[in-house]
Amino acid sequence: MFSRRAVSKLTTSAPAGFSRRMASTKSLRETLKEVIPAKQEQLKKLKAEHSQTVVGDVKVENIIGGMRGIKAMLWEASVLDPLEGIRFHGLSIPECQKQLPTAPDGKEILPESMLWLLLTGQVPTTEQARELSKELAEKGELPKFVEDLLDSLPTTLHPMTQMAIGVSALNHDSAFQANYEKGMKKADYWTHTLEDSLSLVARLPALSARIYRNVYKPGTDLAAVDKNLDLVGNYSNMLGFGDNKDLTEYLRLYIAIHGDHEGGNASAHASHLVASTLADPFLSYSAGLQALAGPLHGLANQEVLRWQLNMLKELDGKVTHSDIKDFLWKTLKSGQVVPGYGHGVLRNPDPRFIALQEFCDTRPELSSSPLVQLVKQTFEVAPDVLKEHGKTKNPFPNVDAASGCVLYEYGLKDFKYYTVIFGVSRALGCVSQLVWARALGLPLERPKSYSIDALEKLIKSQ
Ligand SMILES: CC(C)(COP(=O)(O)OP(=O)(O)OC[C@H]1O[C@@H](n2cnc3c(N)ncnc32)[C@H](O)[C@@H]1OP(=O)(O)O)[C@@H](O)C(=O)NCCC(=O)NCCS
Repeated sequence: MFSRRAVSKLTTSAPAGFSRRMASTKSLRETLKEVIPAKQEQLKKLKAEHSQTVVGDVKVENIIGGMRGIKAMLWEASVLDPLEGIRFHGLSIPECQKQLPTAPDGKEILPESMLWLLLTGQVPTTEQARELSKELAEKGELPKFVEDLLDSLPTTLHPMTQMAIGVSALNHDSAFQANYEKGMKKADYWTHTLEDSLSLVARLPALSARIYRNVYKPGTDLAAVDKNLDLVGNYSNMLGFGDNKDLTEYLRLYIAIHGDHEGGNASAHASHLVASTLADPFLSYSAGLQALAGPLHGLANQEVLRWQLNMLKELDGKVTHSDIKDFLWKTLKSGQVVPGYGHGVLRNPDPRFIALQEFCDTRPELSSSPLVQLVKQTFEVAPDVLKEHGKTKNPFPNVDAASGCVLYEYGLKDFKYYTVIFGVSRALGCVSQLVWARALGLPLERPKSYSIDALEKLIKSQ
């Protein structure tokens, strides 16, 4: 019932200000220099003509309800439709799967292609994607002091905390900060933000793999960055899974399609807020990672797997629909949420969940796995149970319902680490927006807050 086609209607027209010209030989920087002035003009015109146009109401329920639904942010790279799911500069996930270049030895979206799309609004050529892979590999080594810092952390410290510490420390080499101190012009903000952003994305595999090695494989060798590999090829290799081509492909797909989910989600919003103070990309994304570490957001993927494994254990591996139904009710009656289900915006099955399910369907070793089958069976049962339970506005699976089981089946079983992989992915969208925020001169964020008394007074005065 929920095929890809049902969740994504084809839209081939590019958003205003962008052309989807392929076959360009321009570098990433040249491409940005070309597309940024058009966007700046578009925003200038919007400001001049529509600054006072009303586009929504703010109700008391929005103020006390976590600002749900308030239209309050500019975010260039992607827009999330509640029914259709995410579009990256207008492209749905299936469209990205058709159009974006893959790795030389792969069929899944190359995260560098997605980064290019998020940054420029254009589909890169294969050569452009390869050039970006090369640049990232060249910048991929960690400074020695960051390696030492990571090695000094207790292995009992959660991998996400370690990641946020490491990313924060990378600001030692921030081009934005160094040039800001020298007194750079506003017009140059975005170029230094771009340099920092690429350096951050480039270093994430070495940083994240080092955390994995330290916590889960202490004393083992860590591969060096291979200048001939793409970002995820290197990441997989450094994690010790370089020989597993299927896992590497899965990581490419997961990291690409999980890279951005518009701006209001907690990690994107946190990094955007911090960046609005003109903090550099390392500090800003470190804040995003801290938000990602919360169980209602990025940590959900580890919780989902824990819950699924508990179910398999309790039901002794032989699972029927009726067993799953009972287990779901047991979870709900104990006052817990069903992890991997529900969403702050989506009101349909998440197209990212569907893309990951399709990946599993093409691989016999995955589709025959009890864990992967459990994810599928749960999808057949859970929406009706959640509807009957009657609380969640979205009884359907989100991406995390499926993201962990493949990692587990392919041998990456340390699920406390899974959110770090999400952290490698979400950097793509967050840093792209940081570049746009600086290019468009977006201001310091400063929403108005009220105390309960002040809100009551405001209501009386209306
Ligand atoms: C994602 C999530 C945090 C969105 O929260 P939200 O926008 O507040 O969701 P809703 O508006 O639908 O919540 C309304 C109620 O339904 C409950 N609810 C939401 N999702 C639920 C779920 N999966 N299982 C049980 N109850 C759920 C909420 O806890 C809330 O209950 P309350 O009124 O007692 O506080 C929420 O759906 C959730 O906790 N899901 C499980 C964790 C998860 O998968 N997170 C990953 C997100 S990508």
